[in-house]
Amino acid sequence: HGTSKINTKGHLEIGGCDTVELKETYETPLYIMDEALVRQRSREYMEAFRASGLNFQVAYASKAFCVMAMCRLVEEEGLSLDVVSEGELYTALQAGFPANRIHFHGNNKTPEELEMAISANIGCFVVDNFTEMHMLQAIAAEKGLSVNILLRVTPGVEAHTHEYISTGQTDSKFGFDIGNGSAFEAVELASISLNLNLLGLHSHIGSQIFEVEGFQMAVERVAGFSIQVKEKLGVVFKVINLGGGFGIRYTEGDTPLKVSDYVKAITDSVKQSFGGAYAQLPEIWVEPGRSIVGDAGTTLYTVGTSKNIPGVRKYVAVDGGMTDNPRPALYESKYEAMLANRANDANEETVSIAGKCCESGDMLIWDLDLPQVNSGDLLAVSCTGAYNYAMASNYNRIRRPAVVFAKDGQSDLVVKRETLQDIVSGDVIPERIAKQPS
Ligand code: LLP
Repeated sequence: HGTSKINTKGHLEIGGCDTVELKETYETPLYIMDEALVRQRSREYMEAFRASGLNFQVAYASKAFCVMAMCRLVEEEGLSLDVVSEGELYTALQAGFPANRIHFHGNNKTPEELEMAISANIGCFVVDNFTEMHMLQAIAAEKGLSVNILLRVTPGVEAHTHEYISTGQTDSKFGFDIGNGSAFEAVELASISLNLNLLGLHSHIGSQIFEVEGFQMAVERVAGFSIQVKEKLGVVFKVINLGGGFGIRYTEGDTPLKVSDYVKAITDSVKQSFGGAYAQLPEIWVEPGRSIVGDAGTTLYTVGTSKNIPGVRKYVAVDGGMTDNPRPALYESKYEAMLANRANDANEETVSIAGKCCESGDMLIWDLDLPQVNSGDLLAVSCTGAYNYAMASNYNRIRRPAVVFAKDGQSDLVVKRETLQDIVSGDVIPERIAKQPS
């Protein structure tokens, strides 16, 4: 998919770059991002929304993969940005991302984070709870500013990957509940808060969703609530944000829709649900993360040791693992992989790909069909663009890999590989310990 192909040497090529050469230049493990595919996915969202005729913003959910080069890239593509912490906000600001297109999420923003975001003059806060609303009002008042807010609501629709649970009251740490009156109370409070400018509502129902029904249910719930608010309080929302969660294909079993299908389903139900009651349809915002970067990422590993247990299983270990991709260990996520240096060779054996951490759970892929695997072979695991680098750790003091963008035969480093010096850079030995005789 994307620009990936097998070249005449039988090597996997991404963005016109031979992965065997990428290994020589950057070493492994290495995250390779197919830049053209990230741009293509961004454009698919923008074009689908343009086709709807509605006003819109597509905010890339930076939690999926937040580095300065990525912020610049989505800015160039006209997207907005969703951040959830001072770290993501700082990354975006350092990258020169326009503050007025930044939306700040999170269920426990600290006073320092609110201060920082207000000072930067960001476009919108997605207010999650009453504590935050009071704090934000106080800080904005102190500064004599008015800040734009959306209220995060739980619409009572929850996607559990392939199905939806519709409950009166969702048990979630996020947002104001529509079902129990708390969302209504939040609208009332926001409306009388002098320094808060209530733009509308936000709802996010889950992640890696393959069908449109959940989004349609969410739109209906949010619209129903909005109409009730208009009737009872005379408050009309300008913006409805439907969050992210659009699924991608990790393995053959995954059946996501096209970006345009998700967008059309959402914009159509907005037209239908708000049409009668709203003279002007609200602006629609979405927050795709995974579906912008997920399938654009490939992780390149070098094969090291192996262990064959006759009649049971062959383990093949690579030079990374749960530290660069914790998703299999955390969520039992499935991935596909191939030998990048012998991409045309026929499969001959079934192996299980292990990482190098001191932990049995550090497995990347179970029962993968591959050609005869040798030490020194390159393994390419696909669809690692989202929530991989973003969730990488230094467990076992393993260095985080480098990230490169590949496009039109050119590769550029966007994150350097951590050094051993980086590993100890935060360490301090208290003097009383240093003084102890060895
Ligand atoms: N907006 C909000 C408010 C969210 O909470 C999320 C994801 C998104 C947007 C983006 O969702 P996406 O389009 O990427 O599905 N670490 C997990 C995924 C956690 C998603 C959390 N929220 C994983 O690796 O699967």
